[in-house]
Amino acid sequence: MNRNLVHLISQAEIVSTVRRLAVEIDRDYQDRSLVLVGILKGSFIFLADLVREIEIPIANIEFLRLSSYGSSMVSSGEAKITMNLPPKAIAGKDILVVEDIVDTGITTDTALRYLQNYQPASLRLCALLDKPARRQVPVKIDYLGSTVEDLFIVGYGIDFDQKYRQLPDIYYLEEEQDSETAEKANYPINQAMAAKN
Ligand code: IMP
Ligand code: MG
Repeated sequence: MNRNLVHLISQAEIVSTVRRLAVEIDRDYQDRSLVLVGILKGSFIFLADLVREIEIPIANIEFLRLSSYGSSMVSSGEAKITMNLPPKAIAGKDILVVEDIVDTGITTDTALRYLQNYQPASLRLCALLDKPARRQVPVKIDYLGSTVEDLFIVGYGIDFDQKYRQLPDIYYLEEEQDSETAEKANYPINQAMAAKN
């Protein structure tokens, strides 16, 4: 199966989106002690860019890691915390969770519930992308970059099977059989091979 990268959001658009989010965050958290919690691994580039646009002092940056899709393009239906953080980093603090993309909402909801247990002073969510078409659990996104269609997104920290995180732009993966592959698939020999496998 061929997977084509289709361009979706340019680096320039990402830069202006990140700037806009930082302005909104600066405005809302003035005179407060902001703690950012990045959800690994997908948010690492977004978080790195966002912190450099935020002008108010950031009290702390922490990371939470949850189980992800693995090598499948379909959500497993549950999220597990695989790397947690010290409760004292959260208790009584103004926490802003930074997520790459909210899809079914399961991962983000799990992260927010986990953090809420440690009684932060406030808890909000900043997500670069929202894919509402596939939502299973309602999630309130306080700071949102862009809404995307029901597409499989890669680039700018977001992966497919751990690949493509390094791309500066955002793409979606299109599964396509080119005509040559399709033609070959129709050859009797290939059908026979396929039947064997
Ligand atoms: P959810 O639990 O289904 O909301 O998915 C959340 C996580 O799944 C995100 O933080 C991403 O790491 C991953 N994810 C969701 N949609 C995509 C996608 O389109 N491309 C790559 N990863 C995705
Ligand atoms: Mg993620």
